[in-house]
Amino acid sequence: MAARMNTLSLLNPSHVSLRPRDYRFSHRPLRFYTSPNPNRGALFCTCSTTNGESFVLTTPLYYVNAPPHMGSAYTTIAADAIARFQRLLGKKVIFITGTDEHGEKIAAAAMAQGSIPLDHCNLISQAYKTLWKDLDISYDKFIRTTDSKHEAIVKEFYSRVLAKGDIYQADYEGLYCVNCEEYKDEKELLENNCCPVHLKPCDSRKEENYFFALSKYQKSLEEALNKNPNFVQPSFRLNEVQSWVKGGLRDFSISRASVDWGIPIPNDRSQTIYVWFDALLGYISALSDEQEQPDLLNAVSSGWPAALHLIGKDILRFHAVYWPAMLMSAGLSLPKMVFGHGFLTKDGMKMGKSLGNTLEPNELVHRFGTDAVRYFFLREVEFGSDGDYSEERFINIVNAHLANTIGNLLNRTLGLLKKNCQSTLVVDSTTAAEGNEFKDNVEKLVDKARMHYENLSLSSACEAVLEIGNVGNFYMDERAPWSLFKQGGTASEAAAKDLVIILETARIIAIALLPVTPSLSWRIYEQLGYSRDQFDAATWGDTKWGGLKGGQVMAQPKPVFARIENQTEDVDKGVAVGKTMKSKGKKMKQAQQVAGA
Ligand code: MSP
Repeated sequence: MAARMNTLSLLNPSHVSLRPRDYRFSHRPLRFYTSPNPNRGALFCTCSTTNGESFVLTTPLYYVNAPPHMGSAYTTIAADAIARFQRLLGKKVIFITGTDEHGEKIAAAAMAQGSIPLDHCNLISQAYKTLWKDLDISYDKFIRTTDSKHEAIVKEFYSRVLAKGDIYQADYEGLYCVNCEEYKDEKELLENNCCPVHLKPCDSRKEENYFFALSKYQKSLEEALNKNPNFVQPSFRLNEVQSWVKGGLRDFSISRASVDWGIPIPNDRSQTIYVWFDALLGYISALSDEQEQPDLLNAVSSGWPAALHLIGKDILRFHAVYWPAMLMSAGLSLPKMVFGHGFLTKDGMKMGKSLGNTLEPNELVHRFGTDAVRYFFLREVEFGSDGDYSEERFINIVNAHLANTIGNLLNRTLGLLKKNCQSTLVVDSTTAAEGNEFKDNVEKLVDKARMHYENLSLSSACEAVLEIGNVGNFYMDERAPWSLFKQGGTASEAAAKDLVIILETARIIAIALLPVTPSLSWRIYEQLGYSRDQFDAATWGDTKWGGLKGGQVMAQPKPVFARIENQTEDVDKGVAVGKTMKSKGKKMKQAQQVAGA
């Protein structure tokens, strides 16, 4: 363990008086709880460079008040693409996701279903796992906040913060949005004290709670943000975070007297820990090894700090203000980056369980297939901004890009190779492309895609890969190998080389698009005569020109992505603009055929 902790630094926030500033508080004397592990001083050190090349990436832990919808799936698909890209780069990725299962909202949802909370949580948590499987989500850790190891770590963390002198008791009165699980400022509410996100009136609450002294960390947070402006991404969200901090930080309540469904406060069973002070710790408890004692030290030394928290913009304050302050208080390193993406909207409103305007990811997957769903949302929504869903656009994009530009290119090339070269490559792809600037263009586009993946510009990364398909199609049409074959002799030899060039291009596309469409990429690789083991061993290095060798035998040509049928088309700049028709059964059949291909 010690060997892994090679960089030690002390996080020492400037101390400010703990007196609450809000007029709504009335202060109670502190009741201290002593940590059962006073020897855990090492935790006050950080281990920022200790995990070498490991890349810890998290999605939010999803509330289990209702089954997942497309909005929740969106964050996870994006996280999966980033995780897969980092793995291709050779990083040891720990991709964490999970479910947030405590609190009033969840207890109420269970009751509404006539269920007890844990049964309800088991059911919905499983629905998330099933959806992640259907969406090809390659997570490494799935943490549930009802896991016993998580509870142990939350309690230990609470005790550390208490021992630091950052927890006190006070009365609180305010307006609470149960759906946000958050007290709201009156000035941010709509008419009748309605929450602007959920459009439902907030409840007036008054209770004695435990508070976290967030205000004490104002200066340290300001300094941390100034020192590392990349901490909040996209960069335009940093201003928002900085203005929250500059505007003054108010201590926040971290317990609930009226909520039973939660982790009890260590020395006071009459209160449970506030969901956010519980769930955020899931990012650390997820790291704890099943075989080891579930404690902070073990968990932290297995990969903390996280390289990236991927979240929606609505929970930025919790991740970019509350969480860093909590970590500072407990003497732990801060995550390296928090990326707040935009919302998937329907008619301009955030799609969500509480508003009931959701899009069913299961239905989309069953109708159109996993690759189509993943590709559409990552390609179509600029990562960081909002994006509205339209079925027509979905079908047009997916047909134009995946079925036409990529799928058809591969299929017609394999057809020609079968007809003219017995499905066998005549030369190495390096030899075939000698002196041909086409290869340089492909390499430039691959570099562009890599740069965009690295910057989390997922849509631009897809665009760069699609451009490889476009130049491939252009090359094919310009060279017209089908007529060269008819001429015979050297023309025919040149045509055989052209096919190798196109197939090498398809191979490169498969790897460069693998983070986004892993199943489609495998189907392309399989068509090119590779085994599953060879595909699984691929790295980003395989985007280099030269993978396909002379003598390699291609598989029987078979479409890797069947277009979604029943639409009229008008191709505009390579993107089909069409009207969809209503034969859902037919579309489903298509998707299933492709999935089985
Ligand atoms: N449980 C908290 C997170 C705790 S993390 C320690 C929570 N859960 S949530 O289920 O309500 O939301 C989870 C994530 O889904 C958030 O990042 C949220 O922004 C995202 N989305 C929910 N609806 C969304 C859209 N319509 N569009 C995009 N993402 C959305 O918050």
